[in-house]
Amino acid sequence: MNPFEALIRAVPDFPKPGVTFRDVTPLLADAGGFARCIDALAEPWQGSQVQAVCGIESRGFIFGAALAQKLHAGFVPLRKPGKLPPPLVEVDYQLEYGSDRLQARSDALKPGERTLIVDDVLATGGTLAAARQLVGMLGAELVGASVLIELKALQGRVRWGGDVVPLHSLLQY
Ligand code: PRP
Ligand code: HPA
Repeated sequence: MNPFEALIRAVPDFPKPGVTFRDVTPLLADAGGFARCIDALAEPWQGSQVQAVCGIESRGFIFGAALAQKLHAGFVPLRKPGKLPPPLVEVDYQLEYGSDRLQARSDALKPGERTLIVDDVLATGGTLAAARQLVGMLGAELVGASVLIELKALQGRVRWGGDVVPLHSLLQY
């Protein structure tokens, strides 16, 4: 069994009937588990000279900030609308039902800065693809993405663009 699996709570029928929600809060509350999780998330990128970690609001902030420390990189928040002051760059993206928007400060990354995107869960991949677009608009160099959980049935990896840019997940369901 994957060592992190026991620390992820499966919640049936949340947030709606038929959906099994993967709750990461037990892992965050476990000091050793959380530390090992950050070590494991960082492992594929050691030696990749990551300079900036972009974390996606809100659970991506938790993993992203810790990972930035581990990789000796800066942390850049990619936020939902109405949170960051201008000037901004932004990307609209489709959700399963409806749409959302992700924003960053327009000078959040330097041109060519080696950048890693981090989130807790890859579901349909809309959020991660939008983050990737934002990194491109900022002129940075995308090294890859790391997520704790990949929900395989939703094929988010396809929306990410396959394996052209590395996408690493610790747990797959
Ligand atoms: C969840 C999760 C990812 C996104 C994945 O965020 O944390 O960011 O959905 O879904 P996708 O691959 O289909 O785009 P949510 O919008 O629930 O925000 P939260 O972290 O603030 O709870
Ligand atoms: N857990 C947490 N976040 C999510 C999930 C989930 O199962 N699905 C989509 N976003």
